[in-house]
Amino acid sequence: MNYDDTIIAPSILSADFTRLGEHVQEAEAAGAGWIHIDVMDGRFVPNITMGPLIVEAVRRITDLPLDVHLMMVEPDHLIPAFASAGADHITVHVEACRDLFRTLNLIKAQGCKAGVALNPHSRAGELYEVMTIIDQVTVMTVSPGFGGQSLIEETLPKIARLRAMAGDKHNPMPIVSDGGVNVTTAASVAQAGSNVLVVGSALFNDKPIVENINALRAALGEADD
Ligand code: DX5
Ligand code: ZN
Repeated sequence: MNYDDTIIAPSILSADFTRLGEHVQEAEAAGAGWIHIDVMDGRFVPNITMGPLIVEAVRRITDLPLDVHLMMVEPDHLIPAFASAGADHITVHVEACRDLFRTLNLIKAQGCKAGVALNPHSRAGELYEVMTIIDQVTVMTVSPGFGGQSLIEETLPKIARLRAMAGDKHNPMPIVSDGGVNVTTAASVAQAGSNVLVVGSALFNDKPIVENINALRAALGEADD
């Protein structure tokens, strides 16, 4: 099997929470590279999901990197709690931070990789000044708040712009695409320059997780051998 290419990051938002541990372990066995955990505060986005307690529980059942996506206003005060719970990567939204340098440095001081997410309407250029210090970018390919939405195609050129900006700054960082990624859209986000695909509803559904991951690999031209 060759899992050296695109990283698939299951979003547990679409998992069955009565079987969360099994779902994470099945995803890991099927070749998932990161586990993506969506934190929503009911203010930055119109939904409330999970907090450090769930991060801590997932930490106990997998060694995969935990990619914690904070969809919340004023995230600084909770960053230490997510880091102590076992987050490896912490991503904040550019639209939610008053002082991005301060927040990113706080994440790094906690020993985590620091990421920034851009809502569909936000421009790649918003990250120009922080490009040298960030460890990853997440391009929201849907409006954040819910799983199961359709990918907004207008966000794809931004992935390519960010890949070029990262190259200019000699930062070969992961560019994560989040939302609406499935067998139909995966190749276009990868071709635009995204090398980490967050996948929720196309991975946790009535089909076996391994089957869904293999179908994504096939759609990416990375079928296992
Ligand atoms: C949306 C979340 C996504 C979401 C993706 O606000 O950030 O991670 O779970 O779900 P799908 O893959 O179903 O679009
Ligand atoms: Zn997310």
